[in-house]
Amino acid sequence: MPPTNTPPWVEKAKRLAAETALSLVQNVRYLGVGTGSTTRYFIDGLGGIQDRFDGAVASSEQTAALLRQAGIPVLDLNETGDIDLYVDGTDAFDPHFRLIKGHGGALTREKILATASRRFIVIADETKRFDRLGDSVSVPVEVIPSARSYVARQIVRMGATPSLRERYLTDNGNQILDVLSLTLTDPPQLERELKCIPGVVEVGIFARRLPELILMATSQFTVERLKPT
Ligand code: A5P
Repeated sequence: MPPTNTPPWVEKAKRLAAETALSLVQNVRYLGVGTGSTTRYFIDGLGGIQDRFDGAVASSEQTAALLRQAGIPVLDLNETGDIDLYVDGTDAFDPHFRLIKGHGGALTREKILATASRRFIVIADETKRFDRLGDSVSVPVEVIPSARSYVARQIVRMGATPSLRERYLTDNGNQILDVLSLTLTDPPQLERELKCIPGVVEVGIFARRLPELILMATSQFTVERLKPT
C-alpha cells in the first residue's frame, strides 16, 4: 500500500506534473485517463481544454465519475478503438521507465489503456523514482477471488510475501494481493511469470509497455521531462 509518511511538498509537485501534462493534449481525439491523486489534478485541468479532444476513456469507475463531474464525455474502449494518448500516475519507476502501478487498485484497466494507446505519458513527483524497482514498493496482483489462496501459494513458492488487500474489491469484482520481497532483477520476465499463474488477472509491474515520457516534479517545484535510458 502507498506510504503514509508523505512529505508536505508532494501534493504541490503532483499538481505541477499534472498541469504540465495538459499542454501535451494536442492532436488527440480520444484521451485515456489514469487513476490516483496525481491524475485527479490532471482531470481538474481537463475541463478547461475540452475543445482539444472528443472524449475520454477512464481507467476506473472513480476516474469516470470525476471526468463526468468535469463535464467530459466518458467513452468505452470498445467504442473508441485505440486511443491517442494515455496519461497516468505511477507508484514507482526506475531509470528504464519500468513501473509499479496499482496501489489505487486500477492496474488491470490501466494496463489495458496503456497498451491500447499510441502515446503513454506518466506524471509523478520525485518520491516515485527509484534506482531499482526491487527497492521500491509492493507489487499489486489482481486475482480472481476463488483462486486467491492458490495464487498466494505460488507467490510464496517464488520466495515472496503476498498479503490480501482487506475489504477491497476492484472495479472488476476481483481481489488484490500486495506482494513484498519479489526478486525484481528482470522485471519483464517476472511480469510474464506472474501473469502466467492461473487465476492472476493482471500484475502491477509495467515492464513491457513503457511510457515514452515521465513528467517528474521535484521538491524544488521544477518539472523534469525524463526520457527512458
Ligand atoms: C492506481 O491504480 C495506480 O496505479 C496509480 O496510478 C498510482 O497508485 C499512483 O497514484 P498517486 O498518483 O495517487 O500516487
